[in-house]
Amino acid sequence: MKLPQLPQELTDFQPEIGLILGSGLGFFADDRIQVVGRLPYGEIEGFPVSTVPGHAGQFVYGTLEGKRVICMQGRFHFYEGYKMAELTLPIRLMHRMGVHTLFVTNAAGGIHPDYVPGDFMMLSDHINFLGTNPLIGWQGDEGVRFPDMTEVYNGALRTKIRAWAKDHQVDLKEGVYLATTGPSFETPAEIRAFAALGADAVGMSTVPEAIVARKFGMRVLGISCITNAAAGISKTELSHEEVSETADRVRPQFAELLAAGVQLA
Ligand code: HPA
Repeated sequence: MKLPQLPQELTDFQPEIGLILGSGLGFFADDRIQVVGRLPYGEIEGFPVSTVPGHAGQFVYGTLEGKRVICMQGRFHFYEGYKMAELTLPIRLMHRMGVHTLFVTNAAGGIHPDYVPGDFMMLSDHINFLGTNPLIGWQGDEGVRFPDMTEVYNGALRTKIRAWAKDHQVDLKEGVYLATTGPSFETPAEIRAFAALGADAVGMSTVPEAIVARKFGMRVLGISCITNAAAGISKTELSHEEVSETADRVRPQFAELLAAGVQLA
């Protein structure tokens, strides 16, 4: 797949850190970034357009903690019907811009018995339960063909963020994220199975982007906002509204954590 042309202002800006802002977390770009420019996805040739409410669909770039960052305000999900190559196109573009560190955020259901809605979980690892892989068939000449996945989520950066959380009395969990395609939520039997597989949280994103970022040797850091207890653990029905409500409620804490992460990167 040929990469689309990017505006000169953006390539000249040379972002170094990429941020993918998940469901209900897009506000971060408006609240925290000293914005230099915006680029709606619709203005990028061949770029997918986000279809989920709450996903604005643009790159926002500027500075944060003195670092040059580019945010995806709105990301793409496999359940929207995109091909893996399409939904990970932003990562390839970020690589071409010079991004070397990627923060991926998401909303996730809590499987671990200690997790409650509103918690944050730093990803220690993931389980790709999507049944496919974004690197299948893609023969781009840059990056590694068979990327090592021993440490997808950068250990050194995690250590720094863990220490920051401890110093600031932030109860930061750390665990394994399992990605399903969605868009249906899971059944209680699926959640019991995922728990047995070693998953601490479940969601519908992040893994494709992390895999492609690792192909390019980027440092990756993942943060889940636990927006609900996963099916069967929760006694109530799951809904997108609950996911959005929790993400809204923990906005300030999430912004602090992510800004600290960028500062430490
Ligand atoms: N399951 C899958 N994805 C999710 C959930 C969930 O419970 N919560 C937020 N995203």
